[in-house]
Amino acid sequence: MAQIAFIGLGVMGYPMAGHLSKAGHSVSVWNRTSKTAQQWANEYGGAAADSIAEAVSQAEIILTCVGADKDLREVYESPEGIIAHAPSSAILIDHTTASAGVAEALAKSANHRGLSFIDAPVSGGQQGAEKGQLTIMCGGAQEHFDAVRPVLECYARALTLMGAVGSGQKTKMVNQIAIAGLVQGLSEALHFAEQAELDVRKVVDVISKGAAQSWQMENRSGTMIDGEFEHGFAVDWMRKDLGICLDEARRNGSKLPVAALVDQFYGDVQDMGGNRWDTSSLIERLRKK
Ligand SMILES: NC(=O)c1ccc[n+]([C@@H]2O[C@H](COP(=O)([O-])OP(=O)(O)OC[C@H]3O[C@@H](n4cnc5c(N)ncnc54)[C@H](OP(=O)(O)O)[C@@H]3O)[C@@H](O)[C@H]2O)c1
Repeated sequence: MAQIAFIGLGVMGYPMAGHLSKAGHSVSVWNRTSKTAQQWANEYGGAAADSIAEAVSQAEIILTCVGADKDLREVYESPEGIIAHAPSSAILIDHTTASAGVAEALAKSANHRGLSFIDAPVSGGQQGAEKGQLTIMCGGAQEHFDAVRPVLECYARALTLMGAVGSGQKTKMVNQIAIAGLVQGLSEALHFAEQAELDVRKVVDVISKGAAQSWQMENRSGTMIDGEFEHGFAVDWMRKDLGICLDEARRNGSKLPVAALVDQFYGDVQDMGGNRWDTSSLIERLRKK
């Protein structure tokens, strides 16, 4: 059993840290809003630390799941942060969806202190985190990946080392690019079915047995038909992710016309007040008169 610190108990981090504690690891948590850490400790029996320094002081493995690049810079590189306070030889693993550039920069700062770093963004959403069924895409050295595998398996359905640091984030970008076009396609299909005055649920029932089937159709079409979006993966997060994808595409020369367009469509959803709606809310801007 490992000594673990977990930083960032949001929608994703809270249940992920919970799986580690339930598996018998010794887990110390820190969250910016301290009452969440206290609530977590009451629920799972681990320790709620008052500072990052306290949370990581004994840790062999330090996990993070925060918001975006700037948040990572704060929790890793500030004088109160992880890199300044982690015990030497600790392995740092980040589950945030962020840029490959920030992963590479954090790995460099970590290496200067003899620490190792793995970028490990996840897919599978809140439900995947709660059920311990996440897909985890890692970038880092094989020996570090092998060392942390049993810990990450506590909440993984699939766990793969993709290559050097940054490769996990680049793989997550591929995932988000694929989802963006798919959700827009599904939104247009359901909107068309509504306008054609078909029985939309019956349409989904039949076409989901054929080539149009997808995770989004399976898991999101029902709530899209009902116009219910108070769940899942927030539009604000998706815009952050598509911004990262478009920046990386400018660097590597790939063309992402549909992802760029869907990013603007999500901007329309934000203008409709949908910042925290699920990403399947793209259909709402088609329904808008
Ligand atoms: N939700 C999903 O379905 C999903 C799926 C895959 C990947 N992701 C990615 O996973 C990451 C976390 O998502 P989430 O849904 O768990 O977000 P969330 O519920 O908003 O939680 C964010 C967490 O990060 C902490 N945090 C943010 N900025 C911080 C800072 N500057 N310093 C310290 N702590 C900070 C927050 O602390 P407070 O409690 O104090 O705000 C909170 O614990 C994001 O990168 C997201 O894109 C999310």
